[in-house]
Amino acid sequence: MAPLIQAPFMTSSITSPSSLFTLSTSVSFYRRHNSTTATTPPPAEKQEQIQGSAPTYKRHLLICTGVPAPDWTKKPELSDPYHNLLMTAVRGQEVKVNWTDEPSSSPSLSDLPPTKGPRHDLILFPDNIKFSNVRYEAFRDLARYLEKHPIGTLRPSLETQAGSSQDGTITTELVPGSGEPIALTLLREPSAVLVCVHGSRDCRCGDHGGELYTILRDMVAMTGLSQSIKVYGISHIGGHKFAPNTIMYPSGDWHGKLSVLDSVDAQQLLFDALANGGMAAGVREKNVVRPVMVEKWRGRMGWSQQEVVALYKQILSQEKKQAEEVVAEEPQSLFSAPGEELYEDDGLKEQVNAVSLESAKESPKPVEAISSEKSAAETPQKVKVVFETFQKVRTEIEAKVGERILDIVKDKDPARHNVFQALECTCGGELECATCHVYIEEPYHARLSPVTDAEEDMLEYAVGRKVSSRLGCQIRMKPELEGMVIKLPQY
Ligand code: FES
Repeated sequence: MAPLIQAPFMTSSITSPSSLFTLSTSVSFYRRHNSTTATTPPPAEKQEQIQGSAPTYKRHLLICTGVPAPDWTKKPELSDPYHNLLMTAVRGQEVKVNWTDEPSSSPSLSDLPPTKGPRHDLILFPDNIKFSNVRYEAFRDLARYLEKHPIGTLRPSLETQAGSSQDGTITTELVPGSGEPIALTLLREPSAVLVCVHGSRDCRCGDHGGELYTILRDMVAMTGLSQSIKVYGISHIGGHKFAPNTIMYPSGDWHGKLSVLDSVDAQQLLFDALANGGMAAGVREKNVVRPVMVEKWRGRMGWSQQEVVALYKQILSQEKKQAEEVVAEEPQSLFSAPGEELYEDDGLKEQVNAVSLESAKESPKPVEAISSEKSAAETPQKVKVVFETFQKVRTEIEAKVGERILDIVKDKDPARHNVFQALECTCGGELECATCHVYIEEPYHARLSPVTDAEEDMLEYAVGRKVSSRLGCQIRMKPELEGMVIKLPQY
């Protein structure tokens, strides 16, 4: 494995030492002159592992609504048909969809074919490409276009075509013969920082996210970096308890619990954005580059929870080893008791223990990259469960302990795949859709893990909710669920 890089901003060929210096000095200026804007930190939450809390997905689309964040509805994915249909169109490609307050471009209407619905610009990450004025009718073509151009291929191919274009815009039919050319623009800022500012969804995102968003935008403007870094305010991305939350592109790193008391975290983010920008359409290679703030790192686009936790543990153990080496080189303190550890880890050991416990609880199937030593105890156990459609058709399924109902439904194994299409699981388990709604009756209902606030919140939107209602993306298989009947609602 390649060594972890301690200072990622030193690794990029595009990093300009002078811009880093400018950023650093301007940040100091910012800190001195804006201390009155500091607010109280986010409320203390029950300790929950932050590393591995980001969802797994492969690409991200922002809908440029032009609507200011304070006016957003609580659940745009349900209340806005445009959002809902776009999410449905790209389902299966693991594309995350959000609103941003960024306005859409507004060409002359006479240039556009008629449409019954709205049009919006869409920004695609990590490719960093804007699709202009996309209407409902083009969603299917867009989905096919993305499928045809996987990550890492789209931007380079468009760059070749845009060679002679002044503004980096190419006008093309997404699907040849579809009859509606769409303007695609290669966005010039190589890096983006997305901040969840969705206050109507959760006040923590509105307050702390809103504040961080302002700090970042001010810093980018003050340091003259607006050609290099673009800051977007976006709708809910999950994990209110970690607010303020950010996603950086093209690296795809998620961070949470960022400080708004001073600008140190914002500074770190911008340093990283500067250092890792310019590799648009590329993503960090697994297990090679450490995140900029590992203690606030939620995960990385394209990585599984297990991979994130594995890198986190690897970083901690490296740091511990380095600290021990330093201690070994230093003379023992006269005040140390024999055998007493001199290593001070600022709570890292506690976090390692928490990760180990969490992994033992939640991750029955370590990824191959994590460890080559699989013990017999790690072999997944199986349980038999029964799916029952609304029309009372039953199918028995062998499920692995640890997998969710959502995982069973999405499994590509022909023996299981497509059996339960009634369960759409549109949002991929991010508690944003309630299309994984199922009924679990006693005695199994009582054996499930308790309903969290976020699940309860989403269950309000489940059609035909009953006492036995649960969301399939929140139910993990365990031995006590052997024989459970999973009843599907009427769709
Ligand atoms: S899959 Fe969307 S809430 Fe469960």
